[in-house]
Order: sequence, then C-alpha cells, then structure tokens
Amino acid sequence: MTPLIEVDGISKYFGQVIALKDISMSVDAGEVLCLLGDNGAGKSTLIKTLSGVHQHDEGRMLVEGEEVKFNSPRDALDRGIATVFQDLAMIPLMGISRNFFLGREPTKGVGPFKRYDAAHADRVTREEMRGMGIDIRDPSQPVGTLSGGERQSVAIARAVHFGAKVLILDEPTSALGVKQAAVVLRYIARTREQGIGVIFITHNVHHAFPVADRFTILRRGQSYGNFSKDEVTREEVASMMAGGEDMETLSAELAEFERTDAEEAGSAAGTPEPPEGRDPAGNTQEEERS
Ligand SMILES: Nc1ncnc2c1ncn2[C@@H]1O[C@H](COP(=O)(O)OP(=O)(O)OP(=O)(O)O)[C@@H](O)[C@H]1O
Ligand SMILES: [Mg+2]
Repeated sequence: MTPLIEVDGISKYFGQVIALKDISMSVDAGEVLCLLGDNGAGKSTLIKTLSGVHQHDEGRMLVEGEEVKFNSPRDALDRGIATVFQDLAMIPLMGISRNFFLGREPTKGVGPFKRYDAAHADRVTREEMRGMGIDIRDPSQPVGTLSGGERQSVAIARAVHFGAKVLILDEPTSALGVKQAAVVLRYIARTREQGIGVIFITHNVHHAFPVADRFTILRRGQSYGNFSKDEVTREEVASMMAGGEDMETLSAELAEFERTDAEEAGSAAGTPEPPEGRDPAGNTQEEERS
C-alpha cells in the first residue's frame, strides 16, 4: 500500500538551530500514528512542515507516492492534509454550525438574494456530529459554551467533512481532563474507521497507547525511529521520550547511592539487618524496581 503521506530523511534548520534532523515516517489510510516527544523535541516543526507552514531544507516529502513541496497551508489542504491546531481557530460567541462552516459558508438564492443557508448548515453539522457519536441539541449554541473535548470534536468533524485524507492533531488532549480526553480519543478512533490517516501529537504516553497503531518518537530534533504498538511497552516509550540513556545513567547513580546508604546503615552499631527482600527504608524490592 502506498502511504498517504511520507517523509524521508527530512531536516529543518532555523539558522543555527537544528529543529529536525533526518526524520523518516509514514502514515497509511485507516491508521493512527502517534508523534511523541518532550518539549522542544520538534513535534510542532514536523507537523508544520507536513501542513505547509514550513518548508523542509533536506529530504523528501511524498503524498500518495508523489513528491511534493508545499508553499502554503492551502497547498497542503488541497492535497487533503488538514491540521487541527491547538488554538482551533474558532469563534466562541458564534454557534456550532457557524463555526463548522467558517470560511466555507453554504448559501442559498442567487445574486443580490444570496444569503447564508442556516438550515443547511445546521442539518449537516448535526448529521456529521451524530456520525461521530455526539448529539447536538442546538446547532446555534455558542462554541464557547462547549467543553474543551466537544470543541476539539467539532474541529475534527469539520476537517473530516471537508474531505481530509490525513488529519493532523496537535496536542488535542493536552489541556483536557481524563473524561474529556477520552471523548477525543474515541473520536480519533472513529476517524480512523473512516479510512483517514491520523497523526496524533501528544506528550502523554497514556493518551497515546489506547489509540495508536504506530509511534514515532522524537528527541531533540532526532528520531528514535518508528515502532508498531506490539514492539514497544509504555515504559520504553516514556523512557525514549525522556532520553533513554539519561534515565539509565540516573538510575545507576541512584542505585549506587542506595547501596552505600545501606552499607553505612548496616555497619552502624546495633542496627539490625533489614528483613529479607527489603531495603533499610522499608521498601520492598518489588516497589523499587517500578
Ligand atoms: N520559528 C522558529 N525559529 C527558531 N527556532 C525555532 C522555530 N520554531 C521552532 N524552533 C526551535 O526548534 C525546536 C523544536 O521546536 P518545536 O516547537 O517543534 O518543539 P515541540 O516538540 O513542538 O515542543 P512542545 O512540546 O513544547 O510544543 C526548539 O528548539 C525550538 O526553539
Ligand atoms: Mg509543539
């Protein structure tokens, strides 16, 4: 299968800053790719390149097998690559259906009698949201009164309705509580069912695991590579995000501290040996390992 979108050895520089170095990844139809990485890892830079905001300096970008170089977000949209940015670009005081059709308002009548077709907008918005499992009572309800999760859902439904083949979501769950995040994750899964390729950016491993088919993990502008879900554990992903080596060095140092601590405690007069399976602090070794 030809991937919907693919980058091959992409690099991006901002003057002296190497924001991305030699990144390769691809997304197929009906698949969720999770792009993970800590602050400053290069996640936003990568998706801005995919969505036409930035141009890459090295490497190749392909859409459905054809090499492309986008000059603007419009170019990306024309190829079916829709991005939902974190601020969502919605108008809080306007209704759900008005926001749904923002910039693409349906009209009825001709010439001077042309006007906004509210009935059509309301009907389509309601249908699209229902298709995603959300019942809207009143399509004219101001978007500002919706919960964060519902607002994200409107933005996703809008992108899908207007023909996205690839849907890019930049940290859609980062500002949400557990329940609202679950709403958005369920929505991402529904989008995948429609055969759309989803790139889901997050730095929360627990949000990534329930929906991801594959992972790309970035660290300081470089990639740890691409993994399918059955290849890695949650712990391994978290450790890579934090820079695996740093973590290993740190835990080795901590272990050394604990050992000398235990020796000192043990050699102190009258101090009984810790019971088996326990260190002097009373932690079981089971706890220590986690
Ligand atoms: N326009 C720019 N000019 C100069 N440097 C930039 C620019 N955009 C990003 N960078 C740098 O590139 C690196 C990657 O930034 P990026 O925003 O892609 O990270 P991120 O993974 O999205 O982080 P976060 O989780 O904080 O959003 C950072 O060091 C950042 O300072
Ligand atoms: Mg970012």
